[in-house]
Order: sequence, then structure tokens, then C-alpha cells
Amino acid sequence: MGSFYLSTPIYYASGEPHIGHAYTTILADVLARYRRRAGDDILFLTGTDEHGQKIQEAAAAEGVTPLELCDVMAGRFEAAWEEMGISHDRFIRTTEAEHIAVVRALLERLYDNGLIYEAEYAGWYSVGQERYFTEKEIGPDRVDPIAGGPVQRIREKNHFFKMSEFRERLVRHIEDNPEWIVPATRRNEVLGFLAQGLADLSISRPRSRIHWGIPLPWDSDQVTYVWVDALTNYVTASGAIEPGAAREERGFGDSRRPSWWPCDVHLMGKDIVTTHAVYWPTLLMGADLPLPRKILAHGWWVVGDTKMSKSLGNVVDPLDLREQYGTDAVRWYLMREMPTGQDASYTPDRFLIRYDELRNIFGNLAHRTLSMVKRYRVGTVPDAPAESLARETAQAMTAYRRGLDDYRFHEGFAAAMDLARAANGFVEAREPWALARDPGRAVELDETLATLVRTLAVLAVMFEPVMPVQARELALRLGLEHVPLLADLETVDLSGRTVRVGQPLFPRVDPGSSDQEESPVT
Ligand code: MSP
Repeated sequence: MGSFYLSTPIYYASGEPHIGHAYTTILADVLARYRRRAGDDILFLTGTDEHGQKIQEAAAAEGVTPLELCDVMAGRFEAAWEEMGISHDRFIRTTEAEHIAVVRALLERLYDNGLIYEAEYAGWYSVGQERYFTEKEIGPDRVDPIAGGPVQRIREKNHFFKMSEFRERLVRHIEDNPEWIVPATRRNEVLGFLAQGLADLSISRPRSRIHWGIPLPWDSDQVTYVWVDALTNYVTASGAIEPGAAREERGFGDSRRPSWWPCDVHLMGKDIVTTHAVYWPTLLMGADLPLPRKILAHGWWVVGDTKMSKSLGNVVDPLDLREQYGTDAVRWYLMREMPTGQDASYTPDRFLIRYDELRNIFGNLAHRTLSMVKRYRVGTVPDAPAESLARETAQAMTAYRRGLDDYRFHEGFAAAMDLARAANGFVEAREPWALARDPGRAVELDETLATLVRTLAVLAVMFEPVMPVQARELALRLGLEHVPLLADLETVDLSGRTVRVGQPLFPRVDPGSSDQEESPVT
């Protein structure tokens, strides 16, 4: 038991929530729920990134003020997360007064540490990515190398952070901590990037060009570069810097003001690793703050070999399947199908295969077990030892915990599904329907049913992080008040509880319509 602080990126308030945002956020939710189930105290942070040129332009295009746009969009993100069952503890907005004060305090720290200077800057800027790229990165076609959008030539006065001074310290940190950036492909990319040298970071923009941002504390004609502003949200939410006390922020881990900093893991997509693994840690070093403990980058949902994105017009959105199949099924698909860290391609066929797996293995096991307890034992869980499947359960639990602890969620959940598969095999082998016909084998039937009910309780616990709605429903049908904590699984007493059969957890769905029909009881 301990405490655990995790974050998603904060999403640009200029666009609607989509599969990419949902994937990062569900990944974080799974981790948060798993850790809570393991007994940890959690701070799960998400939110919206609301300053900068992108937002300013999007608002202008709609004829509203930037803040009006952000109010609407922040609301859409919050509503989307509620619908997806996201259990965040804090939704941060970078336009909050507290955040603005913390950004200014952090900048002052850098300034006081002698790490800021003023200079003329000329470069290629992508509004889409809100960052500069080098001549080499944009190539002969002069497009942003991440999404292929336009770049513009900009020459202006900026304030710079002496990021170059931290290159060696950062390289050493990455080399000494091989698990700091995962997966290893991303770590190698960052090391490759650093091997080419590290320039200083422009941390401001002239207000005459971008008015929508946080003014620098020492130069109100300049606003804070949106990535510096955005990354700082992780510190704001941690409480490590007391707003309003700009120059007197207290110590970290200070007993007077306990804070959540450093973050245990920053989750994100692979496209924003450089900002998180280079800009952010060097800024923290400059401000004398500890580094986050881990940076985890996941892959992209792709179509063919291109990132799925609204601006590319190639979105085939699994989120559209929620209405027909339910949120849990979509979460299951996203978590089970993408090996954490790699790219995956969404296809309706693969979705159906994963749904059938849920329905035929887990859903079926739940339905047949509950039905048999009802039919053979009038709905009361027999008071009998649940001795079978002990080895399979222990093995599945070990593999499950290893998968979730090591950020290989797909493997953890596959192990849980294997346990459900083994339990179905156990039903076939025991043939409870035959036992029920033979009064001399009542003890065996009791033991069989008790084992199956216990296995369902274990599965409710294992699946809760990914399928919170149906896991809870299953726990209630088993006569439990809630899904147990991992540590309580050993002691929770199921015998004598009254089960409820109900509709199948994952009904048969005709992909052509939204009518649902019940799956047969076996
Ligand atoms: N505002 C910045 C993050 C600042 S964090 C201090 C930003 N926002 S974003 O709205 O573009 O959201 C980015 C997140 O969505 C990233 O984690 C990104 O990888 C993810 N995705 C966007 N499209 C995606 C896919 N097609 N597939 C998976 N995730 C992708 O960047």
C-alpha cells in the first residue's frame, strides 16, 4: 500500500474528444483503478490545455472568445470522460487562477536561478504541434513532421531557457534509469535526439502575436510558451508549489505542505515524448524539482500506416460502438487489442472478435454459473470449500499482476481471460448437470458451484479496472456489496449469499441493428 500519482496529457481545448484522447485516458483509468484495488491512495489527473495560438485561432474561427471556447470544450471532455467511466480525481484547466500562479512561480524560479535570457529567434513554427521544428525536420516540403500540417517562418524576440546546460545530466539520468522512459524504442529515440546536441528552449511569445497566454512575470509583453504552461499542470495539481506565494514556495515533501510530487507516471502518446522527456525534466532540473518517476508512451491507433486523426479525415471510431455494445466492451477492445506501447489498427472485425471473446468466455461463464446456482441450489451459494482451480487462479493472478505492474496491460487482461476459459473447461469436465441428477454426488456439486462462484469473484476483481460497469454488476449478482479489494479476495466469504441471474452481461448484438437478443443459457 502506498500512494500513486498518475497523469494523462492535458488535451487541447480546440478539438473534440476522439479515440486518441480516449485511449490515453482509459489507459490511465485502468492503471488508477488497478492501483486503488491494490489498496493505494491515488491522484489521477487529467484536464485541458487551454492557452496558445491553436486555441486563439480556433476561437477566432468560431467568432467566440478563447475562454468561451475553452469553457465549452472542457465541458465536452468532462462529459466524455464521465461517459467512458473515467475515475479521475482532478480535472485541471490551464486557465485556472491556481495554475496561472504556479506557472509564474516556476518561471520566476528559473529566472532567479539565472537560466533565462532574451534573444531574437528565427524558425519554423507549426501551430498544429505548437512548437518549432528545424529545417532538417520539416524537409524539402516544409511540413510539420508529426501530422504533416503547415509550418510558418517566424522571426521575433523570445525569452529562452538554458536547456542546453542540462543535456548531460539528462542523458545520464536516462542511461542510469533504463526503465524511466518506456518502451525502450522511445527511450532510444530520446537518446538519439539528445546525441545531436540540445538547443536552448524558447519559452515565450510576443503578446502582439499571441495574446492568449500567461504573461511572463518579468516581461508582460511576452506570454509563456504553451508547452511550458501545459507541462507545469502536473506540478500545479500536485500541490508542490503554493500559488500566491510566488517567491516563497515551500519545500517538496515538506511536512507543512505534503505534496504529490513527483508524479509516478506520466502517460502519453508517442508523439509528445520529446516535450515530456526533454523539455519537462530539464525545466524541473532548472527549478530544483525532482523528476517524474516514469514516462510511458503508448502507440497510435492507425489506419493502414497513418495515425487516425480528424484532420486527416480517416477516423473509424470505435467510440461509435458504445451505444450498441456498451462502454465496457469498447474499453476492453482498446486495452486488449493494443499491446501497450505499440501501434494498432482498428478494424470492425477485430472488435467483433474481441466482443465475442467477452460474450462467449467471460459472459457465458458468469451466466451459466449464476443460472446453475439458481437452478440447483435455489440461488444460494453452497457452503462448501472452493478447492478446485486453485492452481489456475494463482497462476492467472500472478500473470495478471505482473502485466499490470509492468504496464503490459494486454497481457494482464489476457491472463484474466485465460482463467475464465479454464473455468469454462472445468464446467465441461465436471458436468454439473449430470451431478445434479445424482443425489449421491451433492457434495461434488456443491464444491463445483462454490469453485465457480469464487472464480467469478476473482474475475470481477481482475476485470474491474477495464470493465468497471460489468464487474460491479457481477459482484452485486454474486451477493457482494461491491467489488472486493485484491487483498480481501482471500478472506471474502461467499457461501450463503444469494445470487441473481439477470440478463447476460454481454448480450448478443446484431451488428446491423441496435436490437439485442439474449444469449442462450448453457
Ligand atoms: N495539449 C497537448 C498535451 C500537453 S500535455 C502537458 C496535446 N494534446 S492533444 O489533444 O493533441 O492530445 C494528445 C494525446 O492524444 C496524446 O497522448 C496523443 O498521443 C493522443 N492521440 C491523438 N491521436 C491519437 C491516435 N490516433 N492514437 C492514439 N493516441 C493519439 O498533445
